[in-house]
Amino acid sequence: MTSERLVIAMDGPSGSGKSSVAKAVAQHFGLAYLDTGAMYRALTWYCLQQQVDLTDADAVLAVAQNFPLSQGTTADVEMIEVDGVDVVEAIREPRISENVSAIASNRGVRDLLINMQRDAIKNSGYRMVAEGRDITTVVAPDADARILLTASEEVRLARRGLQLGGTQNNEQLAQQVSARDAKDSKVNNFTEAAEGVTLVDSSDLNFEETIDAVIKAVEEARQK
Ligand code: DC
Repeated sequence: MTSERLVIAMDGPSGSGKSSVAKAVAQHFGLAYLDTGAMYRALTWYCLQQQVDLTDADAVLAVAQNFPLSQGTTADVEMIEVDGVDVVEAIREPRISENVSAIASNRGVRDLLINMQRDAIKNSGYRMVAEGRDITTVVAPDADARILLTASEEVRLARRGLQLGGTQNNEQLAQQVSARDAKDSKVNNFTEAAEGVTLVDSSDLNFEETIDAVIKAVEEARQK
């Protein structure tokens, strides 16, 4: 077992396939895995459960300051609990996708979660794939490999539709993918690769090909 540091930062818009790809890449390199979007989603779930007005920035921040989150960091088993409640499935519901941007645009909340994310990377012994929207630029700009995974809007809408098992119509999907990205990109730029970040466009790649492209980008970044 090697203990050489390997932090892989991966960003991308919704439906880019980043979570599945990031998990596979973590398994390939034997690394821990952190889904930072799940943290914003879990906090959204908690605020809704506490009936906090999501537009009240101070009230949301107060909830975030005492956020009883417990999150696993293995790629093969997803574990995420809030105050002992398993929220793995609940945080993927459309009502969370529709409200999460209100939480993610709260500056104070971001500062708190970014610190938790940096702690998680440190606690992994700097052997982790962390994925989100601002990992390559804000959370871990010093990562050993930084990747922006994109795909055309059409492909992303289709992927998210499949993921939700055909339960959402086109308008609902557009709300949860395109409208959410538009709101989120006011906070972070995850549509263009920052300097030193490798762009991987998966529009014309299948799942295996996308994983291979990311692994190749990681290997190249490590040689630098
Ligand atoms: O990746 P996801 O769809 O599960 O992310 C949920 C929301 O969290 C997304 O709308 C944007 C926000 N997010 C963020 O602002 N910063 C991150 N590092 C990860 C997610």
